[in-house]
Amino acid sequence: MKIMIIGGGGREHALAWKLKKSPLVSHIICVPGNAGIEEIAECVPWDLSDCEGLSDLAKQNGVDITIVGPEAPLSLGIVDTFNSKGLKIFGPSKDAAILESSKSFAKELMKESGIPTPDFAVFTDCGSALEYAKNRGFPIVVKADGIAAGKGVIICQNLRDTQRAVQKIIIEKAFGAAGNKIILEDLLTGEEASFLAFTDGKTVLPMASSQDHKSIREQDQGPNTGGMGAYSPAPVITPEIHKKIMDKIMLPVVRGMTKRGITYKGVLYAGLMIKDNEPFVLEFNCRFGDPETQPILLRMEDDLMPVIQAVIKVKLSGVKLSWSNNAAVCVVAVSSGYPDVYEKGKEISGLKEVSKIKGVTVFHSGTRKEGRKVLTNGGRVLGVTALGSDLRQAVDKAYKAIDLIQFEGIYFRRDIAQKGLRRLGLF
Ligand SMILES: Nc1ncnc2c1ncn2[C@@H]1O[C@H](COP(=O)(O)OP(=O)(O)O)[C@@H](O)[C@H]1O
Ligand SMILES: [Mg+2]
Repeated sequence: MKIMIIGGGGREHALAWKLKKSPLVSHIICVPGNAGIEEIAECVPWDLSDCEGLSDLAKQNGVDITIVGPEAPLSLGIVDTFNSKGLKIFGPSKDAAILESSKSFAKELMKESGIPTPDFAVFTDCGSALEYAKNRGFPIVVKADGIAAGKGVIICQNLRDTQRAVQKIIIEKAFGAAGNKIILEDLLTGEEASFLAFTDGKTVLPMASSQDHKSIREQDQGPNTGGMGAYSPAPVITPEIHKKIMDKIMLPVVRGMTKRGITYKGVLYAGLMIKDNEPFVLEFNCRFGDPETQPILLRMEDDLMPVIQAVIKVKLSGVKLSWSNNAAVCVVAVSSGYPDVYEKGKEISGLKEVSKIKGVTVFHSGTRKEGRKVLTNGGRVLGVTALGSDLRQAVDKAYKAIDLIQFEGIYFRRDIAQKGLRRLGLF
């Protein structure tokens, strides 16, 4: 089969790497890809918001199945465009992707379906939002309704913070139309985790648990990023909590969508806060997580392709997944200045040395090739992903490998997976 992957980050590199191993896959096209993906797939530059153009590209190249990485094309309706032309594509339709593209939709659905999530209210004007905040008390979380590149959530300690946040989103339109509505919700403390599952709208097939690291600095300090590292499994998700997540969250949300006449197909990703052994939903994403996908796919023992096909054909009930007993960790190296302003075009060294280490895979994010050189080409540059017999081994291996990689201004967190190590008594 000919496969097309949409996206050019670490997640898409991991998907290409995994699919390359499938005996069912003969050729992979990746749009736009990156220097790492180029080694294993044919990369084609394209505007990812051009759903029509991408569907023509798939048709012209005789692509059998397209797999979508990022949320933007999904929320624009790329799946609907492909389906209308009889092309097979993996991911939720525009109607279904609203679970990520509108946080107020997701919150209302959760409320209606009895899914545990912080108490909230939705506003379109500053006055009533501030009135609600005053009555509710502080701290309080202010969220833009739409997709805001991971920057639309502001934790407010007092009324002044809240005034600023509300002003920034509603009046100054800092996130454009994504801020036409805002959500105010209670702050929850606890430990975050990511729970990803495949679903065909009927069956929910969970992937291994994982945990992301959002903040730029160690000990979860500083502004949020796209994700600085992840590991799998996440010991905070005990078998008991796993069951609660399936019964109280994943199955009810898919059923809740069906009740509204929407079939959710693809990856459903719940961003969770675990507090006193209870899972609460902070948000849903409608796609594979980045960087969670990197450690998760490293542990997936089965061929990914039949799972993708089963989702498309609504035959997921017949699929079982097995996960390696090993632990996997991904440490992301970023450009100096990220998540704000950073430079591109720095030469990366050490990739060859790292490729010789057994059990270590480097997934590229923002990289490009120039002649024989590999240059930085984004904020998140690459994710060094290692498999170990336990989390301690995996972490040590990942850091040993990333220490061999150099580029001007390289930065990464030294404490990826520390929460997991502490829980396991391995720190
Ligand atoms: N109610 C909440 N309580 C505590 N922290 C929160 C809450 N909502 C969001 N956060 C924090 O903000 C981050 C981003 O929020 P999220 O809802 O996942 O939006 P997005 O990923 O779209 O930016 C979360 O990963 C979490 O760290
Ligand atoms: Mg999030």
